[in-house]
Amino acid sequence: MSSIFSGRRTVQSIFATLALSAAVLSAPAHAQGTVTGNPEAGARKNSMCVGCHGIPEYKTAFPLLYRVPKIAGQSEAYLYAALQAYKNGERSHASMRAIAASMSDQDMADLAAFYAKAGK
Ligand code: HEC
Repeated sequence: MSSIFSGRRTVQSIFATLALSAAVLSAPAHAQGTVTGNPEAGARKNSMCVGCHGIPEYKTAFPLLYRVPKIAGQSEAYLYAALQAYKNGERSHASMRAIAASMSDQDMADLAAFYAKAGK
């Protein structure tokens, strides 16, 4: 039933947006400047990534619709740099640019920390 699935995805993305906003609001004051990734925080922010970047538990994510790189297990520094590159336009992929544009440095650091561990 595709209608049920699309309804669920909408609810999930609203939830992901709320979770991201809450995370940004509750970010500690010292998070400016150098950010340190928190994998637990990243795990709570990744609901909008798993549909495309399936981690091992989510192998049914859309491998037939998208050629999506596997990000789980890549280095934290590489993932963080890649997200910054989408945000600042060095990388041009439209979907990832739109996604990265809505992310703070802290979001990127948390997600990079989460995905670096997720493949292990
Ligand atoms: C609509 C599908 C989609 C969603 C949702 C999505 N991505 Fe992506 N992502 C892609 C595609 C496709 C690429 C490859 C783009 C390219 O060729 O540059 C990519 C590339 C990346 C890369 C670079 C990987 C590499 O090996 O260089 C990172 C890091 C990344 N995504 C992280 C994320 C994170 C974190 C989220 C959630 C906040 C996310 N993505 C959500 C489709 C998606």
